[in-house]
Amino acid sequence: MSTLALRRAEPAALPFVEGALNYLAPSNDRPFTLTYEPDPGQPRTNIVNATHVMPIHDLRPVADTLSLDVEGFALVNAPSAVRDFYDEDELKRVYYPEAERIVAAATGGARVFVFDHTVRRRVWGSEDRSPGAPRQPVGRVHVDHTDRSAPQRVRDFLGAEAEALLKGRMQIVNLWRPIRGPLRDAPLAVCDARTVAPEDLVLTDLVYRDRTGEIYSVRHSPAHRWYYAPEMLPHEALLLKCYDSDTAPGVARFMPHTAFDDPTAPADMLPRESIELRTMVFHPA
Ligand code: OGA
Ligand code: FE
Repeated sequence: MSTLALRRAEPAALPFVEGALNYLAPSNDRPFTLTYEPDPGQPRTNIVNATHVMPIHDLRPVADTLSLDVEGFALVNAPSAVRDFYDEDELKRVYYPEAERIVAAATGGARVFVFDHTVRRRVWGSEDRSPGAPRQPVGRVHVDHTDRSAPQRVRDFLGAEAEALLKGRMQIVNLWRPIRGPLRDAPLAVCDARTVAPEDLVLTDLVYRDRTGEIYSVRHSPAHRWYYAPEMLPHEALLLKCYDSDTAPGVARFMPHTAFDDPTAPADMLPRESIELRTMVFHPA
């Protein structure tokens, strides 16, 4: 690690809570998960979790020093004019353009394209992606995109323009925020990308009915350094680097993250409500 890296976001002095994080257990099989109910008798996934209790440090005291390009995440103050995050039309009309501006400002990207969003609302006892239920927090360490699936998404969405755009630097950045707060139920833990080795990342198939996405599952390493923003409010947002085509040393490319249960959260906390929005960021070649 460089001297610069050591000066930034050193967790030693930061307050922390302990989180039981679900990593990928060692296995020789390529991991997969179906996003839908499989046919009877078919497994939905072959993934086995290995749970490791890790300190999750409060990032607030060092929030000013964090960046998408170094640690792979940042906390921004970004109030939204959206009145109803459950109104799909309002999201497209109001939230998408806001998000494009926030992500452009944070990355310096010349063009930002929102390609997807997910609203999650905790229903106790409900699994993620169960029919008829809202999307649930994801309590599994992962990275949303890989070297193969990130440019593939550009081709999927931007067709004829894709090859020209992919000649320049391209990033995938998520914008994540609670819809109400202070958020205590299932906050998002983010992992300093500098502490992640390439061999920690395991290619994993995310199988939809019409396509197969590729993500990373993550093997545990004691080197991982985890952070979270306690009690996030709706005017705050986390930016998450899910992919960067820039392979220069020191540039965060794949930032693992997961929801976790904060053991210090009160039993009567509000159920999580959050929205995450995925963007492609283009820098001209
Ligand atoms: C994401 C993500 C999980 C969650 O925004 O990419 O993994 O629980 N979110 O919000
Ligand atoms: Fe994710």
